[in-house]
Amino acid sequence: MSRLAGKVALVTGGARGQGAAEARAFAREGARVLIADVDDDLGATTAADIDGDVRFARLDVSDADSWKAVVAAVETDFGRLDVLVNNAARYWTRSILEESDDALDAMIAVNLKGSFLGIRAAAPLMIDSGGGSIINVSSTAGLGGHVGHAAYGMTKWGLRGLTRVAAAELSPSNVRVNCLVPGAITGPMLGVNIPEQQQRDPDLWSGLPLRRPGEPEEIAEGAVFLASDESSYITGTDLVLDGGATGTG
Ligand SMILES: NC(=O)c1ccc[n+]([C@@H]2O[C@H](COP(=O)([O-])OP(=O)(O)OC[C@H]3O[C@@H](n4cnc5c(N)ncnc54)[C@H](O)[C@@H]3O)[C@@H](O)[C@H]2O)c1
Repeated sequence: MSRLAGKVALVTGGARGQGAAEARAFAREGARVLIADVDDDLGATTAADIDGDVRFARLDVSDADSWKAVVAAVETDFGRLDVLVNNAARYWTRSILEESDDALDAMIAVNLKGSFLGIRAAAPLMIDSGGGSIINVSSTAGLGGHVGHAAYGMTKWGLRGLTRVAAAELSPSNVRVNCLVPGAITGPMLGVNIPEQQQRDPDLWSGLPLRRPGEPEEIAEGAVFLASDESSYITGTDLVLDGGATGTG
């Protein structure tokens, strides 16, 4: 289990959910990991719970100065950076007609601008480290048009575009940039208890080829692949992990 041996990875929004699963899987594969999140207590607890060299730093991805401080700390503490997962995000559903300016700005600031700021702040250290892998976490809401997902979907579509531009700009420096595109995944983000819902309605997932939501650990395995040298010829594209939702529709 050393597919990421010698690598240093920064995972935003790693205090819980998929980010925490990614931090755990990266550490299992031999990476040193920095979990960066606005949730100090949970972030520190999550980092302490994972075996290996896993640390926590406070980061608000929407704030350029916060990014500068965290990347400087990575350079001082770890001496290099090989993997950045832009995973932190906010989520809610609201119709276009009901969405407010402030809420729209807040969603864009974290989900989309936060990833831009992360790439801009982290890429120079990655380049100095000899190259690396940036993973932007999009969503199947960034592949289609889902009712109530205007703000969220805009950011997730935008991330797929940002990924392609960043891949084009950074590939001469040996930095690959790709998107993870999860479908519906268990965890607190969606604000519903998926296992409970499924127990109440066994047919809930019957429209999905794999007939169940994904687990954070399954997304983390995709992140390990994109972070590792196993994906050395892959840049500027999407890895869709959605139980077949979009491929078979
Ligand atoms: N859960 C799903 O079904 C699903 C589906 C598709 C895509 N995704 C995407 O996967 C990623 C992870 O989702 P999740 O379900 O694990 O989410 P989650 O809500 O469980 O975790 C998000 C984390 O981001 C952190 N965060 C929020 N704002 C931040 C900020 N400004 N700076 C730093 N950290 C911040 C939160 O504190 C939290 O720890 C997100 O990008 C999400 O959009 C999730």
